[in-house]
Amino acid sequence: MSYNSSPLEEIKSRLDIVDVISEYVPLKKTGQNWKGLCPFHSEKTPSFIVSPSKQIYHCFGCGSGGDVFTFLNKYENLSFKESLDILAKKAGVQLKKFQRDTVIAGERENLLNLHRDAIVFYQERLKQKPIAMNYLKNRGINGEIQKLFSIGYSPDLWDALFSYLQNKGYKIEIIKRAGLIAPGSRGYHDTFRNRIIFPIFDLRGEVVAFGGRVMDDSMPKYLNSPETPIFSKGRILYGLNLAKDSIKKTGFVIFVEGYIDVITTHMYGFANTVAPLGTALTQEHGKLIKRFTQEALLVFDGDISGVKAAKSGVNILLEGGLNVKVLLLPDGEDPDSFLRKRGRDAFGSLLKKAVSVVDFFVMQSGDDSYPKGDIALVAHDALGAISKIPSSVLQGYYVKLLSERLKINELFIREELRKIRKKPQRENKHMENPGVQLKPRPMDEIYLLQLILQFPEKSYEIFDAVSEEDFEDPVTRALFKKMKNGLTDYNILITKCEEEERNLLTGLLFKSERLSGIRTEDSETELADPEKIFRDCLKRLKSKKRQILLYKLQDEIKSAELEKNDGLLKSLLQEKQKLLKES
Ligand code: GTP
Ligand code: MN
Repeated sequence: MSYNSSPLEEIKSRLDIVDVISEYVPLKKTGQNWKGLCPFHSEKTPSFIVSPSKQIYHCFGCGSGGDVFTFLNKYENLSFKESLDILAKKAGVQLKKFQRDTVIAGERENLLNLHRDAIVFYQERLKQKPIAMNYLKNRGINGEIQKLFSIGYSPDLWDALFSYLQNKGYKIEIIKRAGLIAPGSRGYHDTFRNRIIFPIFDLRGEVVAFGGRVMDDSMPKYLNSPETPIFSKGRILYGLNLAKDSIKKTGFVIFVEGYIDVITTHMYGFANTVAPLGTALTQEHGKLIKRFTQEALLVFDGDISGVKAAKSGVNILLEGGLNVKVLLLPDGEDPDSFLRKRGRDAFGSLLKKAVSVVDFFVMQSGDDSYPKGDIALVAHDALGAISKIPSSVLQGYYVKLLSERLKINELFIREELRKIRKKPQRENKHMENPGVQLKPRPMDEIYLLQLILQFPEKSYEIFDAVSEEDFEDPVTRALFKKMKNGLTDYNILITKCEEEERNLLTGLLFKSERLSGIRTEDSETELADPEKIFRDCLKRLKSKKRQILLYKLQDEIKSAELEKNDGLLKSLLQEKQKLLKES
């Protein structure tokens, strides 16, 4: 749920959360706060705390927290509209009907408008920048195709888009929310600077985000808009707005890995091509595609990371009930480079050589004579994927195929499949546990969030030094991301949170009270110098990150050894040495 701040802030400022909640839950004053038995889980000693100064509640028993709106939503099981009406009435705020609707629809509409204006800006700027035009020309992306994909350019200036949008009347808050500006030590600056801009469209053809590529070798090569209320990477496929008709017509979709690959394939007439936005394929991507076809063809690089991506894509798409074929390009080629070198017909005949998922896995172990260990490994990987297929008939088909390819009796293959099926498939995340168990979250991540909440004026130092990838826990990461996108005022932040994030946030807000010296009964250690905490957290996060990197490297080293890829092995070992030296 998310809503705009103004009428809500008005309502919130006129109400006292203690009064509202007291109508439902008996509260007693203890120190600064009010306490009662939590209405959201059963308990005998009160751990439900309401803060009049912060206008929030939090239960230290079950972890749920929020503001007046979320309380009423949850307690009365109301829709957001209903609780808005009730609280507006209580506060004596007259909401006109249109206002009530725009509170809800407003932010989305506002964000869409903002992106529509931004895309015009970027496209205009492309025309004025010969270097950028040349870059596209050199990559063979002609004017027609530039227009089709609405390609643009973001100037090499700190705040060109920022001031353009402000002049158009957009508030800083909404520009931040879109992720088009970011806080830095010198105030806000444009997120995309001196990059070729690839607008990202949703299915209806609305621009919902941007990707930007540098024109040289600098890093990062690509930058994407952050997740926003109108953009979620896991739910958008680049090019799908242009590809959907062709997917229906041809009866299949081609998945490639990159922006440029989509653009080039479309240019060469393969208009049924889409790509994820530099991330793994998701279940949502599968669902999206299934609206247009059941048949998917993955065309990925033949290098190690391409194979890895293809394996994960195969699993996800099969699980979603799609039929999947795979084509691995010659090492070092992607669809873009292949088409430029060899042309349309060569690519067309290559597509015909795509193989079934079974053959894809079998191919991974070299050609005819596998070492025995490899057969088991291949069978295991392939069956892992096959076990995900919803249709038993298709499963049967692939089991048979696998047994033929590996020249192993089907009975053994079926036995292995049974074993794989029995293994618990990851723990069930959706097990409702209304009780008391609270997830421990990484302390350093918690400290950093607390520091941001407590010292918002210094938060840019943290934003400069730490990136969201440094956060391991998905909830702390999501909160950090929202804060980094400009939501350091918890009053607004709380209205933009998913439930779990909100629960964590209200908990933190009560804890930071403790940290700043106001003692509560369970006061922990005194907070030392915040600067020191910050530096310590940072050090530990970085070393943890290095450790994870090491594990990953170790994995890759192992598979390079298995594959007897000496060149790769050598470079991996060097990388490992370097990493070890750093620590
Ligand atoms: P060109 O190098 O211009 O041909 O682009 P490409 O699309 O071939 O890039 P590449 O194969 O290196 O990467 C595939 C996709 O991964 C890209 O299209 C991006 O979506 C994503 N990607 C690559 N590099 C980065 C990066 O540095 N950051 C992010 N966020 N995504 C990246
Ligand atoms: Mn490329």
